[in-house]
Amino acid sequence: MGNQIKLGVIGDPIDHSMSPLIHSQFGEATGLEIDFRSFHVVERDLDKFIESFFADGGYGLNVTLPHKLNCIRSADILSSEVELLGAANTLSKNSNNQIIASSTDGIGLIRDCSDKNIEISNKRILILGAGGASQSIIPAIARMNPTKLMIDNRSPDKIEHLLKKYSSLGLQTLQHNNEPIDLLINATSAALSGSFNWNIQNQLNEETIFYDLSYGKASANFFSWASQFSKNRFDGTGMLIAQAAFSFQLWFDTFPDTSNIKLSNADD
Ligand code: ATR
Repeated sequence: MGNQIKLGVIGDPIDHSMSPLIHSQFGEATGLEIDFRSFHVVERDLDKFIESFFADGGYGLNVTLPHKLNCIRSADILSSEVELLGAANTLSKNSNNQIIASSTDGIGLIRDCSDKNIEISNKRILILGAGGASQSIIPAIARMNPTKLMIDNRSPDKIEHLLKKYSSLGLQTLQHNNEPIDLLINATSAALSGSFNWNIQNQLNEETIFYDLSYGKASANFFSWASQFSKNRFDGTGMLIAQAAFSFQLWFDTFPDTSNIKLSNADD
């Protein structure tokens, strides 16, 4: 047991994290002896936890809410994506024992879309929501050269903030017209509190693809709204697995097979 490679995920709360389940399957599939645990870390303990985890021989960490922004404080090196986002979900160590912060959320989404034949290039994309989840995927989507990359949010001031933050990426506000949306990504937490509704009916049709960054039961209200328009509905399970696979690749230089991952608790 002592020779196992120490990995983990930190967050608050952390009980429902799928990361241990996913990474242990990656470990089995690649033959790497990993010990991946979830750690409940509150904000005041964050810096100390990261420092001692790596000082005690820890090999890598995934970082989830609410620590994606503040974990950067503990890093010696930021990837260019993290510089842009101001947030990270993966910490690793280099041969000089420096901590590197990376983000695999955006490429995780792109990879899952590619696996599902969801096109982004030359398509009209609308992202709903302007919180952390939305911010973490915008640059990766922009790099795929959509025809239009639009954002809408309940609170307009947050849209303005994002338009400024990503001014070089061609991000636009939603234009209410008759141009259909090809891919609508829900990055809000609106569906968690009850029924979901967004006032864009005339831009949605049976060709529109609906993609929820949440997964399992959390996607039910979004899916039930989307079902009046289209059968093309996906939840964020594939992205969850793909972002984990990219983290695993950052740690071990190998991209694990993502096709047979079982998420027995995926509805939690
Ligand atoms: P995350 O890190 O998951 O993105 P967040 O930063 O708290 O979480 O962002 C939540 C997003 O869901 C925000 O865009 C929020 O809209 P506001 O900026 O107006 O708060 C959106 N959201 C949450 N509840 C909502 C609701 N009932 N209707 C519409 N949007 C909602």
